[in-house]
Amino acid sequence: MNPTATLNNSLKIPYLGFGTWKLSSGKETYDAVRYALDVGYRHIDTAQFYGNEADVGKAVHESNISREEIFVVSKVAISNFGYEQTIKSVEESLNKAKLDYFDLFLLHFPVQQLRIESYKALEKLHSEGKLRSIGVSNFTIEHLEELVDETGIIPAVNQVEFSPYLNQKELHEYCKEKGIQLEAYSPLTQGVKLNDPKLTKIAEKYNKSTAQILIKWCLQHEIVVIPKSSNPERIKQNFQMFDFEILQEDMNALDGFNENFRNSWNPEDKKQLSTFSNGVIRKLSKLKTRML
Ligand SMILES: NC(=O)c1ccc[n+]([C@@H]2O[C@H](COP(=O)([O-])OP(=O)(O)OC[C@H]3O[C@@H](n4cnc5c(N)ncnc54)[C@H](OP(=O)(O)O)[C@@H]3O)[C@@H](O)[C@H]2O)c1
Repeated sequence: MNPTATLNNSLKIPYLGFGTWKLSSGKETYDAVRYALDVGYRHIDTAQFYGNEADVGKAVHESNISREEIFVVSKVAISNFGYEQTIKSVEESLNKAKLDYFDLFLLHFPVQQLRIESYKALEKLHSEGKLRSIGVSNFTIEHLEELVDETGIIPAVNQVEFSPYLNQKELHEYCKEKGIQLEAYSPLTQGVKLNDPKLTKIAEKYNKSTAQILIKWCLQHEIVVIPKSSNPERIKQNFQMFDFEILQEDMNALDGFNENFRNSWNPEDKKQLSTFSNGVIRKLSKLKTRML
């Protein structure tokens, strides 16, 4: 069982993917991804920023599974934003991973002033066949509207932090309406909420772990979900999703857990957004000055 969602360009993406952030480059990433592929995952999420694209690519190549069966995703690091830098960095990602194409490439964060030109660079790489689909991450409704206005392209995916504890209903509804597939990162709240008594109570009812309930909640909401683990038992457990259903009454209860809990950056926080963005803009202008 490996159900897929159909993206707005007709490409199919497995709903359940494997996250690789914080897996160190080298053996840890390689072993975890090989094992994930062995137990049945066919969707791997990496990023330039994680420093492990090469190990993901190696695991994909050495898995003996045909390339077409594995959906590989990466992201443009905020330090690589800008039209030319984006093109160059994606070429580097392809070289590092020894891949002819990525199935999906995302802008990692809505960097101010640079997000539109960076997206146009992804569009160029898409038209050349190096990226089979393109999308964004950490975009709010406002960022998505601006992107579509400026480029006329509806992104295939928006990958955001999402869990019952950060149930971004308005963003989810908006994405559904526009044909943008929502993807949940940190779906296990990076472990922080796994012992929450009200979640434990639901997990006990189904004889499942709290992690499995959080993943299943995303799947039943038709949200693509990418839990990460470095541990073989947990990698396997997180894929054992297709032998149970959460009843509607418990889905409703989980829907009510929202407390706007975030582990990662908050793109709605204008101060945070401009701090990140100013750093990149400064780096780019230094680069340009050096080239003059
Ligand atoms: N686009 C973005 O800005 C962005 C930001 C963050 C993350 N992501 C992506 O989303 C992926 C997932 O998010 P995440 O890594 O932040 O967090 P997560 O998947 O919510 O949680 C990972 C944590 O949960 C633990 N864990 C995993 N399975 C478990 C289980 N069955 N029982 C108990 N603990 C378990 C892991 O520990 P062990 O490893 O020890 O099992 C790890 O500490 C990332 O790896 C990355 O690919 C994207």
